[in-house]
Order: sequence, then C-alpha cells, then structure tokens
Amino acid sequence: MNRATYPKLFQPLDLNSLKLKNRITMTPLYLGYAALGGKISPLLLDHYRLMAQSGAALIVVENSSITPKGSGSPRTLRCDHDRYVKGLESLASVIKRENTLAALQINHAGRFAHAAPVAPSEVTAFNQKPRALTKKEITTIQKQYAKAALRVKKAGFDLVELHGGTGYLLAQFVSPRTNKREDAYGGTIENRIRFPLEVLKGVKDVVGDFPVGYRFLADEWLPDGLHVEESSVLARALEEAGVTYLSVMGGTYESFFLPEIIKKSRRPGYMVSLASAIRKNVKVPVTTAGRISTPALAESILKEKKADLIGLARMLWVDPEWPRKARQGRDRSILKCSPKCDACLQLVMQGKPALCPRWKKEKRKKYRDLYR
Ligand SMILES: Cc1cc2nc3c(=O)[nH]c(=O)nc-3n(C[C@H](O)[C@H](O)[C@H](O)COP(=O)(O)O)c2cc1C
Ligand code: SF4
Repeated sequence: MNRATYPKLFQPLDLNSLKLKNRITMTPLYLGYAALGGKISPLLLDHYRLMAQSGAALIVVENSSITPKGSGSPRTLRCDHDRYVKGLESLASVIKRENTLAALQINHAGRFAHAAPVAPSEVTAFNQKPRALTKKEITTIQKQYAKAALRVKKAGFDLVELHGGTGYLLAQFVSPRTNKREDAYGGTIENRIRFPLEVLKGVKDVVGDFPVGYRFLADEWLPDGLHVEESSVLARALEEAGVTYLSVMGGTYESFFLPEIIKKSRRPGYMVSLASAIRKNVKVPVTTAGRISTPALAESILKEKKADLIGLARMLWVDPEWPRKARQGRDRSILKCSPKCDACLQLVMQGKPALCPRWKKEKRKKYRDLYR
C-alpha cells in the first residue's frame, strides 16, 4: 500500500489563497500545556511542533481567550492584549516551520468562563447562574473578538477560527436553551444568529482578506437544544458573510457526559452525519472530526462527499504519526485512542496537564518533566 490507496485524503485543497497539501487538519485540542496566565510554555511549543511534524496540512491551535474575563481556565491561551503577540508569534512559527498551515482559535467562554460567567440570559449551568449581558457589553465583546483576530493575523498565523462550538458564548446565543432574550438578539433563529454574524463581520472588517474559519455547533444533543434544522440557517448565513470553512461538531458540556452521548461518541466517525447534513447547505469546505481512527474511514468520508476535510484531535495527539503511517500504508501500526477512555478530558477538567495512557512511559515522563 502507498499514498495511492488514499487518493482523496492526500488530495490538496485550496482554501481562499491558502493551499492545503492534503485533507488532514488538527481540530483544536486544549490539553492544559500553556503556562499559568495562558502564556506560551516550552511544553506547548514542543507539543505543537510534534503536531505540525505529523504531516497534517493545517493545525488549528486550541482556544485562546479574547478577554481575561472570557477565559475558560487559568491555562487557557490568551490573545486579549498586544503583549501576547510575541509569544503567539513563536507558536505560529514552530508550526509553519514544518511546512504546515497554522490557525488559532479565539473564544469567549461565556457561562463557562472560570472567573466571571456571563451569557445571553441567566440560564444556570452546573449550579452557577451567569449574568445576562447588556447591549453595551455585547458591543464591547464584539470589539474584543475583532481585536483578538487582528492579533492572530499580526502573530503570523495563516487563519483565525471563531469558536462557535462546545456551548461557549457564540453557541450560547444561537441555542434556544441558553438564549431567552427578548431583544434583537433573542427569540427567532434570525435574531439568535445575530451575535455570531456581527462578530464575524467585525472580525472581517479589521482583518481584511485574512481567512476566518468557524467551529460550528450543529446539534447540542439535548432535547430542548439547537438542532440541525436551525443550525443550517446559521451555516448558510455564515457562508454568505464570507466564512472560509465550517468545522462541524456536536454536543456541549451539558450533553457530553450523558450516558447515551458517551455511548455515541465511542463510535468511529460519530459526528460525520452532522457534517454531512450541514455540508448539504453550503459550498464552503466542511471539516468533520470525532474518532476518525483509520485512514480507510477518512477516505470513505471524503469519497462519499460527507465532508471536505478530516479533523483529528485526540487521534493525532495519541499518535502523531497517523498521517505518515496512512501515506506509507502502515495503517495497522496506528496507535488508537481507546473508546472507553476519557483520561485526557478528565485531567484537563481537573486543571492538570493531559497525558495519554497509550503512550510509552518515557513519553509521559518527558511531558511531566516539561510541565511547569
Ligand atoms: C481534551 C479536549 C479538549 C478539546 N479542546 C477543544 C478546543 O479548545 N476547541 C475546540 O473547538 N474543540 C476542542 N475539543 C474537541 C476536538 O476538537 C474534537 O472535535 C473532538 O475531540 C473529536 O475529535 P477526536 O475524536 O479526534 O478527538 C477538545 C476535545 C477534547 C477531548
Ligand atoms: S486514549 Fe484516553 S487519554 Fe489517550 S487520547 Fe484517547 S481518550 Fe485521550
């Protein structure tokens, strides 16, 4: 076997002015490797160098905070001040040095912000009631997104990605569960998508023709939550507003740990049907992620036109040689993420650095030694 076995997976793709050398992208994966205060650490740089050396075409770096108040944790990356640009430059350059495109995801955690939870409405999450945002604060946050995106461009990244997934602020506005507003930002789906669309417009106004991707929540997997029928409206509107790609995902912190969702997410390609449903509504490239554990599965997703890009997060982290092994036909030696394990997620939720039990002892030790 060789590269010819997976012709779709290794086919280049033009993304605006950018050329992706193949269809493999790392979707963002927060692992708690930044230093306290969200600063760039040696461990973080080592980790992203390794991810870039994997041969993936595009690495989308984990979420970084557009304002200190909107940060998800004390080790969440920061892009809320010009003083972070220099550190972010070093991050972009370790990735780009490996002939890989680099993107940075920007985020406001909203009701999941660790310091000061805010949201469209006062809907309690995990026993904590967020404060509802005023119109003035909405405008301020939109400006913070735009400034953060400009810093991403200045730092030398090739793209910026808006985090509209996982139930963070952008998604909280779109969801009928978390947005109970009675002003122009709440009620109908057209009103609920106003906030992300205004954020995108504000970002595009300052970054010009710099590409802007969107992590896209297609379905919250909650009975009273956002579903594809409504999220498709957002997909079409984002395309019209000039988004470069949609990276589709499902679920939020409130659904990830439900028994039926845990069961679903153990299946290979568990979010492909969502990507496929959204792709029917748009022409921009669509990424799908979610336990795409084998190159054969990736190839079939592309062949059946269910997505345009294959997103690997834990799949690449557990075995950074996934793309190379696929190219060389060494599929059977790919180290697999165990479907019943959720150690990485549990560790980061406890504020600890993620280490994978599938790695060799020496690698785990190296990561522990580098952690500060
Ligand atoms: C520990 C952990 C951290 C994650 N961090 C982010 C993040 O910062 N931004 C994001 O959009 N998705 C994040 N994700 C979701 C992944 O990008 C991806 O969609 C998901 O893990 C499924 O792909 P995989 O099976 O290859 O891991 C995270 C997932 C995990 C398990
Ligand atoms: S095996 Fe466990 S720790 Fe390793 S990537 Fe998979 S879920 Fe995360």
